[in-house]
Amino acid sequence: MQRLCVLLFVFACVTLSSGVDGIGVNYGLLGNNLPPPAQVINLLKSRYFQKTRIFDPNPDVLKALEGSCISLILGVRNEDLQQLASDLTFATNWVNTNVVPHVSFVNFAYISAGNEVIPGQLATFVLGAMQNLDMALKAHNINIPVTTTVSLQVLGTSYPPSNGSFSEDSIQFLQPIAQYLATKQYPLLADVYPYFAYASNPDQIQLDYALIKNTGVIVVDGDLRYNNLFDAMVDALYAALEKVGQPGLDVVVSETGWPSGGDVYATIDNAQTYVNNLIAHVASGKGTPRKPGKVVETYIFALFNENQKPVGTEQNFGLFYPNMTEVYHVNLTPMKN
Ligand SMILES: *[C@@H]1O[C@H](CO)[C@@H](O)[C@H](O)[C@H]1NC(C)=O
Ligand SMILES: *[C@@H]1O[C@H](CO)[C@@H](O)[C@H](O)[C@H]1NC(C)=O
Repeated sequence: MQRLCVLLFVFACVTLSSGVDGIGVNYGLLGNNLPPPAQVINLLKSRYFQKTRIFDPNPDVLKALEGSCISLILGVRNEDLQQLASDLTFATNWVNTNVVPHVSFVNFAYISAGNEVIPGQLATFVLGAMQNLDMALKAHNINIPVTTTVSLQVLGTSYPPSNGSFSEDSIQFLQPIAQYLATKQYPLLADVYPYFAYASNPDQIQLDYALIKNTGVIVVDGDLRYNNLFDAMVDALYAALEKVGQPGLDVVVSETGWPSGGDVYATIDNAQTYVNNLIAHVASGKGTPRKPGKVVETYIFALFNENQKPVGTEQNFGLFYPNMTEVYHVNLTPMKN
């Protein structure tokens, strides 16, 4: 009976799918004025978002997602990594609490063990946490890829893209993690922010290149031609993965976005331009110069402006204000085929 329900659920999701393939949105909860999860899930559906990501296993959000067909990247709290790595029972309890009750009704895409902890004190626990979570899931015959989320701080070199490589203090963790992910055929999640690259170096980087305006070739890198910084950053990560022997590993962009306030480059106009160009770029199916034709699954950061984040640009990444009014319009037209 359980199996029949799962089959029906998956079937229903396929028939209802619409929107832009490959685009999701991060649902952060660091605001004291955000709408209740059920309203948020309805907002996602009404705006044709098929994928979302949450940063910790919030039970109200998991409940609200049940039956929605929206696929979910489920985050693990960084504070739990050490215990997840050292104690299989803790990992089993985590899965029993946060996944098992929802698995027939929520479309889990990936579980992310840790958010941007490499390099750093918690980096040493990431692989063990992934392995224990994977074992705990397999004990229930649940097949959800377990991975981790890195920031591009893991790159010691990123320019030109083909020269991308992991930094000294990241490679010791990422080499074995990449090998594990490749063996399991799970993707690596990465947060990719042309905005921060641009804002820290506006004299060297053209704004149009950062905003994916496709104004022409800006960077020539051997045989490869780059007309936007997003592709260049993703390809630097692919190049780094190749250098640790994992050319086949998939990368999912778990966060990208552009703030609409908080500094001179963070305008509503720039944010709207970046996000809509990004969506069109992903939807084009062109992939990146290094992996042409390979759609990079990409999650926009973020759904809402969050007032409990640090003051400044951090509070202004939302597509929506907490009252669910648009900060700017994003075009995710349903696909007709
Ligand atoms: C590639 O990176 C290395 C090490 O960071 C650097 O020495 C070299 O100049 C870079 N190559 C190019 C073409 O920039
Ligand atoms: C929603 O919030 C924004 C920002 O605070 C405000 O400008 C806008 O007027 C609000 N819209 C409604 C319908 O309340």
